Amino acid sequence: MEIIRAASELKTRIAALKEAGKVIGFVPTMGALHEGHLSLVKEAAGHSDVVVMSIFVNPNQFNNASDLERYPRDLQKDAALLEGTACELLFVPSVKEVYPEPDQRVFDFGDLDKVMEGKFRPGHFNGVAQVVSRLFDLVAPHKAFFGEKDFQQLAVVRAMVRQLNYEVEIVPCPIVREADGLAMSSRNLLLSTLQRKNAPQIALTLSESCNFAATHSVAETKQQVVHAINAVPELEVEYFEIVDGNSLQAVGSWEESSYVVGCIAVFAGEVRLIDNVIYKKSMS
Ligand code: PAJ
Repeated sequence: MEIIRAASELKTRIAALKEAGKVIGFVPTMGALHEGHLSLVKEAAGHSDVVVMSIFVNPNQFNNASDLERYPRDLQKDAALLEGTACELLFVPSVKEVYPEPDQRVFDFGDLDKVMEGKFRPGHFNGVAQVVSRLFDLVAPHKAFFGEKDFQQLAVVRAMVRQLNYEVEIVPCPIVREADGLAMSSRNLLLSTLQRKNAPQIALTLSESCNFAATHSVAETKQQVVHAINAVPELEVEYFEIVDGNSLQAVGSWEESSYVVGCIAVFAGEVRLIDNVIYKKSMS
């Protein structure tokens, strides 16, 4: 694997690979890699000839300065984890390489980013759209791979691709979990021993709520999930919404949509964790 820091060098390398007819698969990340990120690399390898990963902690998407400061960074460890995987090029740009000029673009995603993460992290998705767009310009991939753990992010990236007419195929990848069910996240490293012990209750409660949902209303299911998680020491629900999986707008009943997803954000102390569960997805 080769580490590339300069955008100009990356562009030259990608142009040569494309000239040779290679299909480029791209996995954007912010580092502090774990098995969730590596699963995206594996998926990318199955769908492309050359896998490119980026590691860039994008300041524009952090609405909270201390969250940005605390975000775990360890390039040496990340590079070691990638050795032996299918990742061939690792792009690790500086802020100046990604944003030679400040990115002033303001995206309009309609109602998509007015709810959930978008509501509680104002400006977050605008920053995500900016960086993913910049990275798509530099990497110019044929396909890009995103985890379903960040469910709303996937929807926003798809909307950005439509708006800016990128010819990139967006490939969703399933959530990878720890053995105890906790969704893998770089932020899990920041949990105290007690928080780490209790955090799997998020996934467990979501999973159990699927049975509960079979005999209860959307409102009752919401209430049950929030109540159960808030009863766990150190955990506090920021939001739990049951939404249409495409529009991300809240549903009032299970019959309202054929694709229904529950999305949650929970504070474990200062650490913010997100997860989601699919209640219903018909293939029609
Ligand atoms: P980051 O949180 O590093 O995540 C990079 C990619 O890994 C995202 O597509 C995310 O959904 C996926 N991912 C994280 N945890 C996962 C898990 N447990 N299972 C499956 N996939 C998982 O998301 C970002 O970075 C940034 O917002 C980014 C898209 C790179 C833009 O800055």
